[in-house]
Amino acid sequence: MSKPRQRQNRSLLDDYCSQLGTLMERRYTERALIAAKEQAESAAQLAGHAMRQAQAADRAKSQFLATMTHELRTPLNAIIGFSEILQTAPRPSEIPGYARYIHESGSQLLGMLNGVLDLARIEAGKLELDEQDVALEEVLDAAIRPLRKAAEEKSVAIMSGMVVECLLRLDPAKMTQVFVNLLSNAIKFTPEGGSIEIDSDLTSAGDLSILVRDTGKGIPNEDLERVLQPFGQVEDHLTRQNGGIGLGLPIARALVKMHGGELTLASEVDVGTTVEISLPAIRVRPMAAAQVA
Ligand SMILES: Nc1ncnc2c1ncn2[C@@H]1O[C@H](COP(=O)(O)OP(=O)(O)O)[C@@H](O)[C@H]1O
Ligand SMILES: [Mg+2]
Repeated sequence: MSKPRQRQNRSLLDDYCSQLGTLMERRYTERALIAAKEQAESAAQLAGHAMRQAQAADRAKSQFLATMTHELRTPLNAIIGFSEILQTAPRPSEIPGYARYIHESGSQLLGMLNGVLDLARIEAGKLELDEQDVALEEVLDAAIRPLRKAAEEKSVAIMSGMVVECLLRLDPAKMTQVFVNLLSNAIKFTPEGGSIEIDSDLTSAGDLSILVRDTGKGIPNEDLERVLQPFGQVEDHLTRQNGGIGLGLPIARALVKMHGGELTLASEVDVGTTVEISLPAIRVRPMAAAQVA
């Protein structure tokens, strides 16, 4: 009597074990499937991201080539055209004017190539700072001076707000270049009658913040990151009314970073743009303290 019951119990246990085994197997298979699906999804996401990056890089390259070609052709055409006129023995009184156009176009080309070279040097880590103690006011004056005429011709006022009296430890030529780039943008993208204001302040941590604010056309939100990249511009060469190859902002940002600082952009379309440069406290000595020292 006990033997068959034992056999029956065993076969129930076997059944139970085999069902449990199947269940566990199914559970593992499901889990493995879910994990595989998640891996496949994240791989697809990565591939999509890489593809979008490659497409963006491709678009940036095409835009760069189109812009460069356009920006090189204009001054080159002027040089060829005016030098041809000079060969036809023009009236002596006309010669200085033609020579001036040729000189301006040549300088424009040189400026462009210098920009490309500067950026290449910065990216290769080959640019070094020649640090000196210099007053903030001096750096700002050196940047405003060569641009005052262009601002006046466009009836754009350049106003100095508060200038912190301090000595800065920096490379004066490179920091002047930063403000030349920012101010020439502000003049270029601000319509007649607009204004530019330069302000500065010390934060509670002793960092120096310098603002260049204009009342110009502004930059759409979706372009704020792109214009800081090399050759990034809001408008392309077909719609653009102003010259430039899109290196001013990335060079300015890289030079500020070399000083341990930050360059940030805030803008509203048709209201204006504010560029903020902040320099770390370690580079700033308030003038009174500097005089005592
Ligand atoms: N102050 C500004 N107001 C409006 N747009 C600006 C301003 N500064 C820069 N931008 C936008 O950012 C782009 C990149 O500027 P930048 O790097 O100096 O190159 P570029 O002046 O040669 O075009 C400009 O083409 C313009 O679209
Ligand atoms: Mg510029």
